[in-house]
Parts: sequence; structure tokens; C-alpha cells
Amino acid sequence: MKLSKRDEKLLAVERLKATGRLASEIAHELNTPLGGILMYSHILLEEVPENDSRRENILKINKLAHRCKIIVQALLNFGHREIPQTRPVQINRILRNVIGFLEDHILLRNLSIETYLDPALPRISGDENLLEQVCINLIINAAQSMEGIGTLTLRTELAPDTKRIRIECSDTGCGIDDNHLDTVFDPFFTTKEKGKGTGLGLSICHGIVEMHGGTITAESVKTKGSTFTVFLPVAHEEIDD
Ligand SMILES: Nc1ncnc2c1ncn2[C@@H]1O[C@H](COP(=O)(O)OP(=O)(O)OP(=O)(O)O)[C@@H](O)[C@H]1O
Ligand SMILES: [Mg+2]
Repeated sequence: MKLSKRDEKLLAVERLKATGRLASEIAHELNTPLGGILMYSHILLEEVPENDSRRENILKINKLAHRCKIIVQALLNFGHREIPQTRPVQINRILRNVIGFLEDHILLRNLSIETYLDPALPRISGDENLLEQVCINLIINAAQSMEGIGTLTLRTELAPDTKRIRIECSDTGCGIDDNHLDTVFDPFFTTKEKGKGTGLGLSICHGIVEMHGGTITAESVKTKGSTFTVFLPVAHEEIDD
């Protein structure tokens, strides 16, 4: 079966979430036994006399277990981490592209979509595929919060400091509880029914934005809607121009 371009892109988003979930689950499972290995190797070290030739091997076990712990921690910090392919990227183009292939998606079909994309927006330095994943996740979340009816507003502009661009994704959906405004970026935080959401979408967005030296924040008024704001640094090439 040949997938449409849109379904291929959505599948890529789901794949990223699935990889993230698998990596986190494995990391969680490994964390406890690793803690045990470290603890017992410490106990052994204390029990074995200083001049015992076996100390060297115990030290090696300890060192290697530490190394594993660092790897597991990196996995826990973020399920996956691809090597970004960095080049100058025009965010307006990514947004237009994403809207283009999502607008006939059942969730967006009846939404009113307003775009205010600054035509003079400078390019940023980044990985186009990863930044596309951020836009897709934010737009899908916004659409899900409106359950098919409402206004999705996308805005881009150069920040007043002229060193960053600002991307805003607003919806007129259900809104977010004040006490959840930070938690929404935590891996596995979801208010969606079991099986409907992984709770990884925004944590992946957060990871990608941070990887690009940017920030992502959420504001919301319960029952009125939410706004996600992303800042990304302008590409050096554009500043020198
Ligand atoms: N635009 C929004 N409006 C209201 N709530 C939102 C919005 N975006 C995110 N949220 C809240 O943040 C939670 C986490 O979002 P995230 O994208 O990480 O996971 P998810 O959407 O629940 O699952 P998945 O992305 O895997 O489908 C959501 O369950 C929802 O409660
Ligand atoms: Mg989501």
C-alpha cells in the first residue's frame, strides 16, 4: 500500500514517539539492576584488602557500570537523539508545507486556519525534518484541543532582539490547567484517554527546540485556548548579511 505524503509524515511523528517510548522503557528497566551492580561492587571494594589482586577487576566492574549508568541516564533524559542535519531553514516554508499536507486531515478539515507569516523572516540554522516534527506536533495538539471546531492561528516574526525568531501556535480549544503548564512538556504526561496519546509529543518538541538552542513555552486560559511559543536563534549567515 502506498502511503500519502501526509500519512508518511504523520507516521514519522508516531515512529519518533514509539522509539522514544521504547528507549525510555528499556532505560527504566536497566536502571534498577545497574544500581544494584554499582552498590555490590562498592561493598566488594570495601571488603577486599588494599593489596588484593582482585581489586583491579572489581574497580573495572565499577567503572564500566558507571559508564552504563551514564548511557542509561542519557536515554532517560530523552528517549532518542538523532544527529541533526543542520542547514539554514526557512520556518515559514516548513509551516506552509505542514499546513498543506495536514489541512484535509479529519482534525483540521473544519477549522479556520489563520496564518501571519512574516515575509521578511530570517532563516534559522536547523534540521528541517526535526523542526517539521515540532510544527506537526503543535498543530495536531491544537487541533485535538478544539475537537474539530475553532481557530488555529500560526504566527512568525523576528523577535525585538533581532537574534531570534518567534513562532506562535494558538488555538481556541479546551485550554490547559495552570498547574499543568510546565508538566505538559514532561515525557508521558497526557490527559488523553489510554491508547489515544503517548504524552511524548511535547517532550519531543522540547528536546528538538533545545537541541536548536531555542525555547518553548505554553500559555493558556482554561476553556478559551492555548498558545505555544517557540524561539529559535537566527542563523549566523543571516546576521552577517
Ligand atoms: N494545544 C493544547 N491545548 C490543550 N492542551 C494541550 C495542548 N497541547 C498539549 N496539551 C496538553 O498537554 C498534554 C501533553 O501533550 P503531548 O503532545 O506531549 O502528548 P499527547 O498529545 O497527550 O499525546 P501524543 O502527542 O502522543 O498524541 C496533552 O495530553 C494535553 O493535556
Ligand atoms: Mg500531542
